[in-house]
Amino acid sequence: MTIDRKERAMDQQKLKELVQDMSLIEKINQLLQVTSGFFIDDVELTGPIRENGITEQSIAQAGSVIGLLGAKKYKEIQDAYIKNHPHNIPLLIMLDVINGFRTIFPIPLAQGATFEPELSKRCAQIAAKESAVSGVHVTFAPMVDLVRDARWGRVMESTGEDTKLNSDFAIAMVEGFQGTNVGEEYSIAACVKHFAAYGAPNGGRDYNTVELSENTLRGYYLPAYEAAVKAGVEMVMTSFNTLNGIPSTGNQWLNRNVLRDEMGFDGVLISDWAAIEELQYHGYAKDRKEAAGLAMNAGVDIDMMTGIYSKNLESLIEDGTVKEELLDEAVLRILNLKNKLGLFENPYKDADEEKEKEIILCEEHRKVSLEAAEKSFVLLKNDGILPLKKREKIALIGPFVSEKEIYGVWSMLGRPEDTVSIAEAADKVRMDYEFTFAKGCNILGAEDSNLIPDQHVQEPSKEDEERMLQEAVEAAKNADKIILAIGEHRRMSGESASRSDLTLPKIQYKLLDAIYEVNPNIAVIIFTGRPLDLREVSEKSKAILNVWLPGTEGGTAILNTLINKVSPSGKLPMSFPYCVGQVPVHYNEYFTGRPYDPKTGGKEYRSNYRDIPNTPLYPFGYGLSYAKFQYDDIKLSKDIMSIGETIDAYVTVKNVGEYAGTETVQLYIRDCIGSVVRPRKELKGYQKVTLQPGEAKNVTFEITEEMLRFCKDDLSFGSEKGEFHVYLGTDSSTEEYVSFNLN
Ligand code: GLC
Repeated sequence: MTIDRKERAMDQQKLKELVQDMSLIEKINQLLQVTSGFFIDDVELTGPIRENGITEQSIAQAGSVIGLLGAKKYKEIQDAYIKNHPHNIPLLIMLDVINGFRTIFPIPLAQGATFEPELSKRCAQIAAKESAVSGVHVTFAPMVDLVRDARWGRVMESTGEDTKLNSDFAIAMVEGFQGTNVGEEYSIAACVKHFAAYGAPNGGRDYNTVELSENTLRGYYLPAYEAAVKAGVEMVMTSFNTLNGIPSTGNQWLNRNVLRDEMGFDGVLISDWAAIEELQYHGYAKDRKEAAGLAMNAGVDIDMMTGIYSKNLESLIEDGTVKEELLDEAVLRILNLKNKLGLFENPYKDADEEKEKEIILCEEHRKVSLEAAEKSFVLLKNDGILPLKKREKIALIGPFVSEKEIYGVWSMLGRPEDTVSIAEAADKVRMDYEFTFAKGCNILGAEDSNLIPDQHVQEPSKEDEERMLQEAVEAAKNADKIILAIGEHRRMSGESASRSDLTLPKIQYKLLDAIYEVNPNIAVIIFTGRPLDLREVSEKSKAILNVWLPGTEGGTAILNTLINKVSPSGKLPMSFPYCVGQVPVHYNEYFTGRPYDPKTGGKEYRSNYRDIPNTPLYPFGYGLSYAKFQYDDIKLSKDIMSIGETIDAYVTVKNVGEYAGTETVQLYIRDCIGSVVRPRKELKGYQKVTLQPGEAKNVTFEITEEMLRFCKDDLSFGSEKGEFHVYLGTDSSTEEYVSFNLN
């Protein structure tokens, strides 16, 4: 039955009246989110679930659902749900659409490597469209947690270690998902997460303690969430971690003072999965009832999947621990989101079985996935072995040559049959190259089974391992060049995937060694969800192309890059450490009172390691091209800036190589003296230029006083007079600078 709801155009007043008209239980259940399983399967509401407060009635009145239903099923459920609801309030459908729905884009860390937020906006628009026609209203994205520790498996969901870059991508993704307003066709509501500073867990161990000075929190970690709020994000998700001793999900200062009062967020605040219940395990609540009260008073509107509000809010209101007006405010925010989505007038929104068939994975969407993948690849090393030349004998070796699950773990709807592998892409150009293929080994060997949840490792027999290795060695012997496709298993990064080591699966080094012994002309393709320790790979290869987890068109993007249909142009959004002992490592570190400069030597009594360098193997912003870029004539329009004025910074970039290429010119600024110490340099701008061989372009950046502001010792944001150094270069290790003074 399709309910025609045109007559109920809701406005704020009507919404408030609706809230006043709802019973206490109805209002409480509006704060419950359950998985779609409760609406699809006849879930046996056994003791534990019922004890949690999830009952037939709370399901029948649950405000929202997490999970995919598909257009047809969603419509059926929505009809029944509305009909049974005492006030016919529509259901809200939420899902993790992180980097694509069915057309899968590169993981967010790879999207960060494009240094092209506008491209991520297009990816998010496509993801929103495919989700919307399948019945989704809200996505739990973008994740904007700043990351500096590659041991943490969820770095793959972030856009990296830089505050500005994360803020730019946060805005782009929110705008991509939500459009100009979430009520328009094919828009879905976005949810910025995980508030706050989930990306800074001690030891890089997931869900672990976060301890940050308020200056560091405000100066580096909060701005990207605030950028999303200013971009109009409709929802925020609390993080699992404690922040300076208080769990985010029960943190009134963080959620009411900072998020709502300072940042001006007036949308819905949802807990992460079971995070309210976890206040007990943190030792912050003595029981479920106290946990529910703490979360409610901290401003958490929706309880994801524990029933803890349904079970306890009535008595918390009765005993005065929670004021009913807090409940009313939460309900109003949730109804307001449903109203913005137009669900009162059209509870189906964009759900449409015909359009599902028509647009999901269409050619146009695949093309954007291909473009995003190509632009995300980072060429870390190239001794001239790439690009491949026609008629060369190329051995495609490695467990990723035919691998089709080359998308991140949050690509839950990604399917191998939709994805193009390297081998499949190579087959399309086989007339121009002499390709041979050999797997060489599995992604994981018997010694690597602890690297992913054990239900996913097919243990090869010793004989199989030996046979695959020998086949690969034979293929390598007879080739001009080897393309060795290796890397992390997709399940080695993501949630609950922290590692104490950043090297590759052991079995893959056996393959690398065996190949290297018979033919050193190796170009390595690295699949990974995180920065890795690539020292050994670098020693035994002549090129390294980091392709992250590239998504649906990954194989095509890789082949296009290998044969120079496109030149690699990605830049690292997160430092690749020299080794795990260097972590956390990031480009915008402080000098310390004993700065160590390898050029001036003197390792004694300096801030350094005895056994490794301070600098990462590959720094933030680094990435090569087939072109060769030369920077000349860096200069400023003037060397004094007064408040209210700007300065232009100029540089000439020339392609002195034999191939065309695209360079991301980066602007960094160092504030030499501050009331709090200031980092070596900070990214303040970036521009892409495409240059043919021999071509040069002038690139100009406008430097504003606003760029010079930072979180000062009194926690206010502002600039301070004094000397500034301006760097214009190819990555964060750029050393040449020009100076100006702010008066
Ligand atoms: C997970 C994640 C969060 C995700 C949520 C719903 O635990 O922390 O990012 O959106 O649960 O799947």
